[in-house]
Amino acid sequence: MEKMKRIVVIDDDPMNRKLAEYTLVQNGYDVESAGSGQEGIEVLKKQKADVVLLDFNMPGLDGMETLEEMKKQLNLDNTKVIFLTSASFPMEQGEMKKWGVTDVILKPLRSNELLGSVKKALLSEQKDKMLVVDDEKMNLMLAKRLLGTSYDVECVTSGTEALEYLLREKPAIILLDLHMPHMNGLEVLKILKEDEKTKDIPVIFLTADGDKETEAQIFKAGAMDYIQKPLVAQVAIQRINRIIELRHLQSSLMDEVEKKTRQLEESQRKIENLSMQIMLAMTGAIDAKDKYTNGHSNRVAKYSRELAIRMGKTSKEIDNIYCAALLHDIGKIGVSNDIINKASKLTDEEYAIMKSHSAKGANILSKISEMPELSIGAHWHHERYDGKGYPDGLKGKEIHEIARIIGVADAYDAMSSNRSYRKALPQEVVRSEIEKGKGVQFDPEIAELMLRMIDEDANYDMREK
Ligand SMILES: [Fe+2]
Repeated sequence: MEKMKRIVVIDDDPMNRKLAEYTLVQNGYDVESAGSGQEGIEVLKKQKADVVLLDFNMPGLDGMETLEEMKKQLNLDNTKVIFLTSASFPMEQGEMKKWGVTDVILKPLRSNELLGSVKKALLSEQKDKMLVVDDEKMNLMLAKRLLGTSYDVECVTSGTEALEYLLREKPAIILLDLHMPHMNGLEVLKILKEDEKTKDIPVIFLTADGDKETEAQIFKAGAMDYIQKPLVAQVAIQRINRIIELRHLQSSLMDEVEKKTRQLEESQRKIENLSMQIMLAMTGAIDAKDKYTNGHSNRVAKYSRELAIRMGKTSKEIDNIYCAALLHDIGKIGVSNDIINKASKLTDEEYAIMKSHSAKGANILSKISEMPELSIGAHWHHERYDGKGYPDGLKGKEIHEIARIIGVADAYDAMSSNRSYRKALPQEVVRSEIEKGKGVQFDPEIAELMLRMIDEDANYDMREK
């Protein structure tokens, strides 16, 4: 794991120190604070900091004097300074850079701004690593001198040494000499491209010959660019910076896309869970109406899903069929409990009211426009294949497939579970009823699948007892 970054806060205002400490510790920084410039210098003498937050106006040593003392007494090459000030700030950009000041925060202090500023300071701390591979020592010295201020330059004199270095380190970019003894630049690049760990490191060739053929060869091998030797500082730095910037943008873009995708998936998952929970709650309300058929909707949904799987439906279709079956009897909410739970035979009038549950259900579910399948199941699950069902007397394939599936599953559950007026029917009776209903009450193909399910269910325990 990466070493914890250390931040030292120097401010005479205890409330500011407290806020800075709290914010930074919460975000994983190692924080120490001091109430005066002098105390701050003592703290830094004991242990260096990556970033110093320095109050500009303090009694005793003020911010600027503290910074001057810090520079005098300590080696602060790798320490960045952020000034905190409540008034306008007198330093100019160039001067700030000379002193290692990366930012100025105007008080009152706010956590977010503070964090952003610290992150910025830490980023500015890192120089990108660069590997330069060239068999001529003169070229390496030149590269180091020209590029060393902008990059953390590592020089090696052969392809073999470069490969060794790359086992340990991952530079942001590689400058690779084309012509080298033993292993030339193209050979080195080929090896880099074959290794998962190194294949994405951008490579720029260094070459003295600028002919078209070489150029083509270099790009074909997967190099990002090439620079003519002898190196001209301005050209080299521009070309290198451009490529490194591009890489940084690319990787932060990829991070961002990944983050957003995760967030999106998470919220989608939540919405799906929520819809499912709402549907199950509604299912509970439906089944609570009928004290003799407890769990009916859940079982019909389960059988319907199994039929859909055996019909080779896609997973989305299977889910839709499951949900439609869960809610197929929702219209019963609009039928009085007395009729639903009546143990004796229904009168014609009561039977008509009972039958109205399919149209009522369709009406209720038609409001859920995002899932039109839901109302299909409720609307037509009492249609019969021979056209003698209700509410519309539809026939054969006129009946929507979802309703035909639910029709079979519904009938199976009605026969295989206990009712107010009878016990569950024996499995062989259920089987023969389904068999008899093929092409009469039921879609013959779907009924056939149900028969297979029954035959596979040797102990008659597919139903929930
Ligand atoms: Fe029904």
